[in-house]
Amino acid sequence: MQGRALLIGNWKMNKTVEGSASYARALIRALEGWWDTKRVGVVLAPTALAISAVGRTLSSTEIDVAGQNLELGTEGALTGGISGYLLYEAGARWVIVGHSERRQHFAEGDTLVAEKVGAAWQAGLHPIVCIGETETEREQGATQRVVSQQLERILAKPPQGPLTIAYEPVWAIGSGRVPEPEEVGKIADRIRQALRAQWPEAENDVAVLYGGSVNHQNLGGFLDQAEVSGALIGGASLIVEEMVAMVRAAQEHRGTR
Ligand code: PGA
Repeated sequence: MQGRALLIGNWKMNKTVEGSASYARALIRALEGWWDTKRVGVVLAPTALAISAVGRTLSSTEIDVAGQNLELGTEGALTGGISGYLLYEAGARWVIVGHSERRQHFAEGDTLVAEKVGAAWQAGLHPIVCIGETETEREQGATQRVVSQQLERILAKPPQGPLTIAYEPVWAIGSGRVPEPEEVGKIADRIRQALRAQWPEAENDVAVLYGGSVNHQNLGGFLDQAEVSGALIGGASLIVEEMVAMVRAAQEHRGTR
């Protein structure tokens, strides 16, 4: 599924509202005049507090805004909760679901993650679901099994909208260590096979991304993989110049094949 490359910046718990908006302004300026939106898609996931400010700043551009998490339901008694409906109303069109940090620190399991994917569709959001093995699981040779298991509940029900799957090995997140691109390619192929088997009609509505210590230098290797359509980027996406360099790298990559 080569084609448009998608770059999603996950800012995690970083940047104030003003810092987020000023990044967005700087990104617009830096991309002006050369960014080809047909070759590279860009999505930014600021904190929930900054979604509406970033969304307003980006409203006349083709850069989309994502939430980093959502709770089930629409409105109600859930102190501290933010639903897909509230994210959508604030300007988000995408939402990250089941990031390994949520799985680890907030005990989110596969059942809840699958429910959140459904809730995202209900709210009109495009879910970006994160899957990936820990270091121990990798050492045990369990990567494929873990990835299949994490997908199982999501693929068990028919899709209600487009889905993006980010394969993010937990040990590669924020560590500066990355798997061999060919290894990622093989896992992306397996994900694609599972999709073909479970969702034959909707297979083309699903993109597979790689995530974990991506930067402008290593991005091309992942984009070389036939089934890898882009990247979910944490640390490197916080620096506007680095984000711009990744858009440029992806655009050159997509322009040459
Ligand atoms: P990283 O984070 O790029 O800083 O490794 C990726 C992620 O957690 O999505």
